[in-house]
Amino acid sequence: MVGLPARGKTYMSKKLTRYLNWIGISTKVFNVGEYRRAATDKYKSHDFFRPDNKEAQEIRTKCALMAIEDACKFLQNGGEVAVVDATNTTRARRKMLVEVFTIQHNFKLFFVESLCDDINIIEANILEVKVCSPDYLGVDKNEAVKDFLQRIEHYRETYEALDYNLDSDMSFIQIVNQGDRFLVNKLAGHLQSRVVYYLMNIHVLPRTIYLTRHGESEMNLSGRIGGDSDLSERGQEYARKLAQFVEEEKIPNLKVWTSQLKRTIQTAINIDAPKEHWKALNEIDAGTCEGMTYEEIQEKFPEEFALRDQDKFHYRYQSGESYQDLVARLEPVILELERQENVMVVCHQAVARCLLAYFQDKTSDDLPYLKVPLHTVIKLTPVAYGCRVEYVSLNIEAVNTHRERPKTVIPSGSSNKIKMKEPATCSH
Ligand code: SIN
Repeated sequence: MVGLPARGKTYMSKKLTRYLNWIGISTKVFNVGEYRRAATDKYKSHDFFRPDNKEAQEIRTKCALMAIEDACKFLQNGGEVAVVDATNTTRARRKMLVEVFTIQHNFKLFFVESLCDDINIIEANILEVKVCSPDYLGVDKNEAVKDFLQRIEHYRETYEALDYNLDSDMSFIQIVNQGDRFLVNKLAGHLQSRVVYYLMNIHVLPRTIYLTRHGESEMNLSGRIGGDSDLSERGQEYARKLAQFVEEEKIPNLKVWTSQLKRTIQTAINIDAPKEHWKALNEIDAGTCEGMTYEEIQEKFPEEFALRDQDKFHYRYQSGESYQDLVARLEPVILELERQENVMVVCHQAVARCLLAYFQDKTSDDLPYLKVPLHTVIKLTPVAYGCRVEYVSLNIEAVNTHRERPKTVIPSGSSNKIKMKEPATCSH
């Protein structure tokens, strides 16, 4: 990252890291501020960041080097993307990054610079995240803002923005005023294009995403997975209550997205808002197991059933999909969600788990076991560097389709010896 303090670098670093991990690219943030806090006594004042403070300069360079070295270790041990979240505001500092990452280690280096001269954006950023930073623990809010503004001024004295003449050999994106304008230079490779595409699609406007599964379906009642059945009576009641809930929430410019299956379309039918029906939101394809109960699958395909419990994220139903396939299918949905403001997504258990994992930064191991109860709206609201998650039950009874992670799992290769500990009663 490159940019003055309070330009949204940490926000972008964390969000990009969450996205890359979600699509299966092992990514980690190395925040130089955290190294500095670990290496120095309690933060005293902006004086630490004066360009003429030689002693502090030495500490700051050492901390940057420690973060860079750890980033290299991460990349040497299977990590695929290391995000160095730091100001990197001078050409000399960026030269050091080039030296270590590309010359010593032969890694690719891509700079993401956030330029911002909109005082409203900067002030909002300081108030939202900087005054709550560990640097200002117990410090009066106004004092913290004053100190932080002076810290920015110290950085400004030596700031050298990326320049497509002077830095013409470097791969970088410059993001102006949180996405008003972009400049991309020497994009090198597929991964960098994906990073650019992602960064060009995110925004910071306040909004809420409402996530819900369809109402209880006829097939839920009989414990069968997949298919395209109608809602049960209780499912229809949920559809009515959901519309009432939306009306009471008074959500500006709400859009409703459903899958192309009857149960999600019927769930959204009473909602007074524009609707889109996405094939990408259809439930995981259970292939040869579509329409079967779990008992039937266990009886007919015992080995397959056991294999799924060993690695539920990667297990692919015969002639069907895995959770991993589902994440790939849902990537365009996530990108479009990032572009939108208030949206209600009416989908299915496995799909909702994938979307929830993205917003909650869950690992692929935990993803297939996330709880997404029927007849419940999950409200996702971006806050600071994360997302607030609220579960709102609309109080209509429904079958429980959640199946806990099995307690004993025998490693793959010995599937013929597997004994299931859990009764097979639920869906996906
Ligand atoms: C910090 O110490 O908080 C920021 C370090 C940097 O300039 O990157």
